[in-house]
Amino acid sequence: MRTEEPRAIHLADYRAPEFRITTVHLDFSLEPEATHVTAKLQIERLSGSGPLTLMGENQKLLGVALDGRALSPGDYHLDDKSLTLTDPPSKLTLEISSQINPAANTELEGLFLSNGMFCTQCEPEGFRRITYFLDRPDNLSVFTVRIEASKEQYPVLLSNGNRVGGGDLPPDENGNGRHYVAWHDPFPKPSYLFALVAGDLGSIHGDFTTMRGRPIALDIYVEHGNEPRARYALDALKRAMAWDERAYGREYDLDIFMIVAVSAFNMGAMENKGLNIFNDKVLLATPETATDDDYARIESVVAHEYFHNWTGNRITCRDWFQLSLKEGLTVFRDQNFSGDERSHAVQRIQDVRALRARQFVEDAGPLAHPVQPQSYIEINNFYTATIYEKGAQVIGMLKTLVGDEGYRKGTDLYFDRHDGHAATVEDWVKCFEDACGRDLSQFRLWYRQAGTPVIEARGTYDADARTYTLELTQSLAPTADQPEKKPMHIPVRIGLMGKDGSALPLTLDGENRAGPDSRVLEVTQKFQRFVFVDVAQEPLLSLGRDFSAPAIFRNPLSLHQRAVLMGKDSDAFNRWEAGQTLAAEIMLDGTSHTDYIAAIGEVLARAEEDPAFAAQMLMPPTESELAAKKTPVDPPRINGARLALVRAIALAHQDRLAWLYEQMRDAGDYSPDARSAGRRALRNACLRYLTAADDEAAAGLADAHYRTATNMTDMIAGLAALTRMESPLRDSAFTHFHDRFRSDPLVLDKWMSLQAGSPLPETVTAVRGLMKHPAFDLKNPNRVRALIGAFGANHLRFHNGDGSGYRLVGEVIRALDGVNPQVAARMAGAFESWRRYDQDRQAQMRAELVAIRDLPGISPNLFEVAGKMLN
Ligand code: BES
Ligand code: ZN
Repeated sequence: MRTEEPRAIHLADYRAPEFRITTVHLDFSLEPEATHVTAKLQIERLSGSGPLTLMGENQKLLGVALDGRALSPGDYHLDDKSLTLTDPPSKLTLEISSQINPAANTELEGLFLSNGMFCTQCEPEGFRRITYFLDRPDNLSVFTVRIEASKEQYPVLLSNGNRVGGGDLPPDENGNGRHYVAWHDPFPKPSYLFALVAGDLGSIHGDFTTMRGRPIALDIYVEHGNEPRARYALDALKRAMAWDERAYGREYDLDIFMIVAVSAFNMGAMENKGLNIFNDKVLLATPETATDDDYARIESVVAHEYFHNWTGNRITCRDWFQLSLKEGLTVFRDQNFSGDERSHAVQRIQDVRALRARQFVEDAGPLAHPVQPQSYIEINNFYTATIYEKGAQVIGMLKTLVGDEGYRKGTDLYFDRHDGHAATVEDWVKCFEDACGRDLSQFRLWYRQAGTPVIEARGTYDADARTYTLELTQSLAPTADQPEKKPMHIPVRIGLMGKDGSALPLTLDGENRAGPDSRVLEVTQKFQRFVFVDVAQEPLLSLGRDFSAPAIFRNPLSLHQRAVLMGKDSDAFNRWEAGQTLAAEIMLDGTSHTDYIAAIGEVLARAEEDPAFAAQMLMPPTESELAAKKTPVDPPRINGARLALVRAIALAHQDRLAWLYEQMRDAGDYSPDARSAGRRALRNACLRYLTAADDEAAAGLADAHYRTATNMTDMIAGLAALTRMESPLRDSAFTHFHDRFRSDPLVLDKWMSLQAGSPLPETVTAVRGLMKHPAFDLKNPNRVRALIGAFGANHLRFHNGDGSGYRLVGEVIRALDGVNPQVAARMAGAFESWRRYDQDRQAQMRAELVAIRDLPGISPNLFEVAGKMLN
């Protein structure tokens, strides 16, 4: 049972540390069930006269020595969360020995075992499960680590920095050989960036020469046999290193950069200094086992974690309320990298879709919080879409406001000023004020106010005066934490289009020469009016180009006008946006689909010009995207409306779709590059339509697609079509796939996800059956996400009217909480939007949430999330 109510931590309570640990010597003797850790800490007082309290959990304290003298239990205070010395000298050496049990660590926080290998996850507060420490990000220490272990079982022993020693040791009492390796990281770092890996691993090697000519050794470690699957990640790493030099002038600093892939991992990956640890799902890829989306994801995660070396490691966060300082910024950097490497338009579309699917939903629900939160119970719950995705958008707006050059000046100053320190969001914004001479006081509200602003446009054309008056109104609904909201500083990028699609120059009243075709209006007040002069004809407004702010843009246009923008807007993002809005209006309001179907015809006619972009244009909003637009949500109705639209498109454009399907066939060997991937994406979008009837002929085509596929992308596209159909071909294809990949858990995950995402009525039963499959394992987060996570995202079946979907997910969450509370709390996000549904569904979801909140012995993680959802 929970003994005490979990307590909230407040930003307002931040206090500078009274002590600093300057150097750490860690000594590990690794055994799965009894690992010994000795930490020798040099500590000095910075201020005050209070006690010295070190955080520590889940370990058995074996001994403490102060300046070489063993202490007795009466000399310190110990509880289940900390170790305190009441009256320490102002400079001291503490030597602390403790014992931990990595084999019992199912939470995967601290030191744990993943498929027999030791690895760590210390961010945000896992280090305190390894030893007693000032486990807070504003304590930066120089680490030296000695690891000793069985030589046969753990031939590879890794930690941060450079290898500074190693060798054989006398055998243990059973005659088994032992060895050790020592590592030293010269860069002071917070404990959350500490890492250790030990196992019997294979590796691949590469090298990189920095812009100043320094050679860097690159090593990727994987389980034996997976070496070929790490090649693409190595390639992505080199491109990321080169990009950071070009785009930000940032060079790598150690002589060696290592990545390790592990199979049991809570998150995607972790940026530990010089030793990134990756979930194997976002590292391993071959054409036979990974889809184009997997490749793109690997590229972006490898880049993201690498980029943290400067944005996160060299400059870290003062406290966890500043999390977006490193995460929002690093996401912004990885998004730009992927855009540069692939396609800016497609990248922007995908980023905005992810933002709306997760962050807008968060902002509109019970878990809404600002990019800089003011309080939390469990910091692990705050690695949210708001911190990440909205945080990245905020930086994008800052760049829009100060321009490319100003942005680079600001980041240069930031790296210069704060290198080697723990910084705040305020420090970051200040750099742009200082470097660019701008007042960003109102802009700071983006960090402080939760909620998604709405921008409404009203345009009037005066033919006689040849003026176009644009009125913009901004509003921000109150959130639980903030009843009053202030107007924000919002960059609104617009364009005006003539009848033939030509751009009309945007000249503001008072300007004496023709303005640009596209411009950013700075909206700072609740209501603002902009008058454009010399406007030759009644224009069509293109609002929020390139999604210039994380806002809801309302542009009142007719179906026909949206169709025109969809075909002709010079801003690629807004062409896509117009199509999405149009399709949503058809599906949700039942308006005529004539204009949209015709516009899709134009997209198909030009699809070969940019297949990747065309594939995006061809897909109407998903059921979840539609659900986010209108309440009360009616899941079967949304499903039916979307199916009807897809079938209408298929019927209208059958011939062209079939032609493109043939045209986009792969010639030659598979390559994961963006162009080839774009052709496959377009071809598979065509397949979606060509199989839209879900009849026997459709099943035949999907089956043939699957059977003739030469890569995982196409195999999955075939199976994804089949999973919608009641056909013997469906069962035989799924059996075939299963038998081929039965010993490859990452690939079987895809097989599970497809079945969990099926719209067929028996999906709940099927998922319950798959939970008994030998590959399913509640202890491995990838397995849980592949099956239960995918089911939670199955809008139609999760929201089954009989509540069976809710009960399934609720049961799993409650069982999972005792194993891995972090993942359980994340899964509970499936219920986040419960208040948007009809009374019946609300009651059923609420009942699950209550059962979760009242779970005996519930973790603080799950308690915080379920409690907030119910409030
Ligand atoms: N620092 C995080 C990993 C992390 C997250 C550690 C939460 C502890 C708690 C890492 O840099 C990260 O953000 N990883 C993302 C992927 C990234 C591409 C957005 C992840 O793991 O999902
Ligand atoms: Zn990150």
